[in-house]
Amino acid sequence: MTAAGLAPDGWGPGSRPDPLIQRESRLLGTAVSRVDGPLKVRGEAAFAAEFRFPGMVYAALAFSTIAKGRIAELDTAAAEAAPGVALVMTHRNAPRITPLPEWYTEGKAVAGDTLPVMQDDRVHWNGQPVALVLAETPEQADHAASLIRAGYRAEPPVTSFAQAKAAGLSPALHYGQPLRTEIGDAEAALAAAPVRVDETYRTPFQSHNAIEPHAVTLAWDGDELIVHDASQAVVHTAWSLAHAFGLRPEQVHVSSPHVGGGFGAKCVWSHHILAAAAAKLAGRPVRLSLSREGVYRVVGGRTNTEQRVAIGARPDGGFDAIVHTGVVSMTHHSPVSEGFIASTGHLYAAGSFKLTVEAAHLDMLAPTFMRAPGAAVGSFALECAVDELAGRLGLDPIELRIRNEPETDPTSGLPFSSRHLVEAFRAGAERFGWARRDARPGTRREGEWLVGLGVAAACHPYVRLPGGSARITLTAAGRATVDVAAHEMGMGTETTTAMVAAERLGLGLDQVRVRYGDSRLPGSIMAGGAQQTAVIGASIAAAQRELVAGLLKLAGHDSPLAGLGPEQVGGFDGGLGRLDEPSRFESYASILDKAGLPQLSVEASAPPSLELAHWSMHSYGAVFCEARVNAVTGEPRVSRLLGSFDCGRILNAKTAASQFRGGMIMGLGLALTEQTQFDERTGRIMNPSLSEYHLPVHADVPEIEVMWSELPDPHAPMGAHGVGEIGITGVGAAVANAVCNATGKRIRDLPITLDKVW
Ligand code: MOS
Repeated sequence: MTAAGLAPDGWGPGSRPDPLIQRESRLLGTAVSRVDGPLKVRGEAAFAAEFRFPGMVYAALAFSTIAKGRIAELDTAAAEAAPGVALVMTHRNAPRITPLPEWYTEGKAVAGDTLPVMQDDRVHWNGQPVALVLAETPEQADHAASLIRAGYRAEPPVTSFAQAKAAGLSPALHYGQPLRTEIGDAEAALAAAPVRVDETYRTPFQSHNAIEPHAVTLAWDGDELIVHDASQAVVHTAWSLAHAFGLRPEQVHVSSPHVGGGFGAKCVWSHHILAAAAAKLAGRPVRLSLSREGVYRVVGGRTNTEQRVAIGARPDGGFDAIVHTGVVSMTHHSPVSEGFIASTGHLYAAGSFKLTVEAAHLDMLAPTFMRAPGAAVGSFALECAVDELAGRLGLDPIELRIRNEPETDPTSGLPFSSRHLVEAFRAGAERFGWARRDARPGTRREGEWLVGLGVAAACHPYVRLPGGSARITLTAAGRATVDVAAHEMGMGTETTTAMVAAERLGLGLDQVRVRYGDSRLPGSIMAGGAQQTAVIGASIAAAQRELVAGLLKLAGHDSPLAGLGPEQVGGFDGGLGRLDEPSRFESYASILDKAGLPQLSVEASAPPSLELAHWSMHSYGAVFCEARVNAVTGEPRVSRLLGSFDCGRILNAKTAASQFRGGMIMGLGLALTEQTQFDERTGRIMNPSLSEYHLPVHADVPEIEVMWSELPDPHAPMGAHGVGEIGITGVGAAVANAVCNATGKRIRDLPITLDKVW
């Protein structure tokens, strides 16, 4: 029998480790199937575009065909006369809407950009919605939208990267702070280094392609707005829509019980605001389900990057200097930029660093977060450069990394809370058969195929944003309900939340119910930055502390627990027991029955994330790839992929493995196929469909092995680091390094397509 005592009320210095990191746990770390799985298999999980309201109409959008200018004419007569049409909304009749403030203003704003939505005749990007049609059926709405005719007074846009760079760069910002770290004189150290690489790497625009396109089904009820959304931030979305329409946040109710993938894109975009505005104007509930093309026009993605990585080393491989600088595209109406230096300052010991990101401004759709923002593409450049340097030094690339393993965080100076990257490399190398790699490129051939092995490090920051709260309601029947405004986007949130709560409370998994995905639940939690699980876990820990204190008070003098303080007891076997003397025990049912209470409900907030001020905290991984390149056509294929991860305690072996594997598949897309074709003449995205934007399909995805260290971080809630974004990180470089090992050809420009090979 194991008991989970109370978690600390903070994770700062001096706090004892969370009891949930114990390895003999009944539940944590085991492979538990999704508790929401049966609902999904039966088709009973309702997604945003499956909710209905009586009298609902369907929306379709017409998009601008220029990148910048004014709408000179807008002929809506044919659309208005088309069958089934209830309303055509343009800037001429749209209600007044307040533009949203910058990302994360007041910890709440989550709009992709700060532009006014359909408030004037200005066009800011090619694909901006210029008209919205409401009709009785989706087909009638689509047809009517196709009849809208717009004429423009075009102005010269900035739509080429070269032109934008020539017009001047500004520091790229991340949450308002410039992305810049300088330690020592890295350029001078680089110039003096006996061995160096100094190369430029490029990554393209990428678009979001969640399996569920963005959708809202919404209705006004007097002054209240009810929204069924596909959201990774329900409370933030309610706040943002309230701001746009001049309401109090509690007047907007956002529900999003199931989401078909988010990856950073399921926040607020203009379709939310347009749907709510049109519903108001028409006096009818509205469903706006973006077409796949609509997602490309309305929802931002990852911008292109042009990165210089220069590393200066001594002959023994020790780094004297790391320079990682470059330019990303950005708009004037979004503060979000692709911060590719996210991990560079934390991976390797080096005498000096120069890390900066600058932005070039284009007239285009606002970019946004996309899985492992910054790190996914930054690790491509950095980890290719490390591989190139290893070649020049004649050192094994893993050995070179181990020689530069830092003792403390090389740029912040903080101690690492928990870091086992070297072990992850060693375990992965063993499992993958790295010793069989021949360092000489182009030496292994099987028929027409050249075969190579490559490796890369992955690193993604641990985050725990403020705002976490949870409510636990315990009944006299010994069951618990956990209420938390969190999100299930397919990654297993409901399951890990139930597991963590069951473990803390000493209940079975089937005795815990989790309610989530609703802005009226406690907390203001974002499913982003791979931090949702940490926030939920810290919130549940706080609520359990309150619950234990409340139960001990109720237990009274005749309880076996009489006289014990909250720190001395833990939850197990459906009740509270003394940690060091489990026979002193009283069941939850007994405590509540004696007190005459059918249930006890407590709500508490997670403490501030003190752990981040005292330790350098990251998820880590070592990614191994076997690539095959056709000697005749240059076609690259990945035949084996292995991820060896170090992310602290793994809570659910099954859903964590799926997170790792899914991230690695997204990394394959980044490496080999994904590219938004942004026409630099017109600013138009030319491939807005899954037939032309190439995501890896089953035939592209090899066997993927994942493994992990399972070593808990004593300073993190549950000992766990995020597993959502580390999987994609490092894959681009592992593939490029394998392709180089196979062919001798170094490709520094993603995606690696056959035309670039020979
Ligand atoms: Mo992730 S890009 O923070 O959803």
